[in-house]
Amino acid sequence: MSRNAAPAGAEVRAAAARLVARVLLTHVSADDVLEGDAGVAPRDRSLLAALVFGAMRWHHRLEWQSTQLLTKPLKPDQAELAALLRIGLLQLQELRIPPHAAVSATVDAAPLLGARGAAGLVNAVLRRFQRERAELERKAQAVPEARFSHPLWLIDALRADWPDDWQRILDANNAPAPMWLRVNLRRATRAAYLETLEAAGIEAHAADDVATAVRLAAPQPVESLPGFAAGAVSVQDVSAQRAAPLLDLKPGQRVLDACAAPGGKTGHILECCDSLDVWAVDRDGARLTRVADNLRRLELTAKLVTGDAAEPRQWWDGRPFDRILLDAPCSAVGVIRRHPDIKVLRRPQDVERAQAFQADLLRALWPLVAPGGLFVYATCTVLRRENDQRIEAFRGAEPGVEPASPGVAGSWRNLPGEAEGDGFYYAWVRKPHALPTASVPREP
Ligand SMILES: C[S@@+](CC[C@H](N)C(=O)[O-])C[C@H]1O[C@@H](n2cnc3c(N)ncnc32)[C@H](O)[C@@H]1O
Repeated sequence: MSRNAAPAGAEVRAAAARLVARVLLTHVSADDVLEGDAGVAPRDRSLLAALVFGAMRWHHRLEWQSTQLLTKPLKPDQAELAALLRIGLLQLQELRIPPHAAVSATVDAAPLLGARGAAGLVNAVLRRFQRERAELERKAQAVPEARFSHPLWLIDALRADWPDDWQRILDANNAPAPMWLRVNLRRATRAAYLETLEAAGIEAHAADDVATAVRLAAPQPVESLPGFAAGAVSVQDVSAQRAAPLLDLKPGQRVLDACAAPGGKTGHILECCDSLDVWAVDRDGARLTRVADNLRRLELTAKLVTGDAAEPRQWWDGRPFDRILLDAPCSAVGVIRRHPDIKVLRRPQDVERAQAFQADLLRALWPLVAPGGLFVYATCTVLRRENDQRIEAFRGAEPGVEPASPGVAGSWRNLPGEAEGDGFYYAWVRKPHALPTASVPREP
């Protein structure tokens, strides 16, 4: 070690603390802050990601523990030091790092944050945690945010919507999600791809009731997946793989994928059926380039439109669509296990805003469905006001909205972790060939 170099492991802890504080202060997602150059060596990138995602997943518990262990609260301008303390506590509980190494690297990180004199504080807090851990764990049982490591408003919302399942949902949100692949059935059968994986030494299992889905026993970098670059498979959760089959696609149909970016479902739609005329609309032009990248890899094409799906007059040519998928912007409470920063970024008012967007989008897009056409509404949340309650309100307000087929339920949902899938909701409605005419009162 050169005279001025930081002790081993300190830099990555300091970098993680800076990124965690940035997520909290600027509301940028953990994925986005990790994309930048955090200044750590390539060999430390996976530890950096584990520290940042772990700090998000366990934020509410770690914050409560810090408060219990500090004799005096930190000041608001000490956000990076506060994050470093949580990262220290995280390592002592959730990561497989020997405690003495975790403590010394975290203590050594304090001066790198410019927190002069803070090394002693970090050391004292972490040592106290080690001594008082059992007592803290007992006390945490009475504090819902600490016990379940979720914000209280979300615990309350999930308990209200899912009185029998809320604890299971919270536990599933705290567990890392498996990696699922969607096999491109244009290239090979799923059985053939499973054999290819086995030959490559990658253990994988087929989903029972989703024909394209394969779950990997352990996550893999996509570059190591056979045929990935050539479009043989895509990474997509099993619940998301239900969207395209629900559309009941037939060759020659005109399909609108509203809110399409980054294009996971657009690609699946095109893989399912030949000769489709697919429009992929998203209001975020930068995200739409990711749809283009995904389709290029799959060698498939769609018409890409940058536009507000709630304002079809801006981009629609007036010809109705046989199929519309509205993968609506939502609170994303069903995918917390993949994006644990949702727990710290989402606010109750965001759910209200999402509900308003969803209502606008449903209202704006329904007129674009051809008579006899099918409309599929999808979200990755399990909050009922964005799902069944939203669809009930829509059906109450729109004339002629009927279930897709009489006698068959018009919706499907998965709670997070069920069948190893993300939390998801789908509802589908078919537009009648002729709208029911209002009854005209007879002349007396
Ligand atoms: C849940 S993501 C869609 C995921 C995508 N369907 C997939 O499977 O990869 C929601 C998308 O909706 C887009 N969005 C939000 N509001 C929109 C609007 N009013 N019009 C068009 N796109 C919108 C966002 O930019 C975001 O890309």
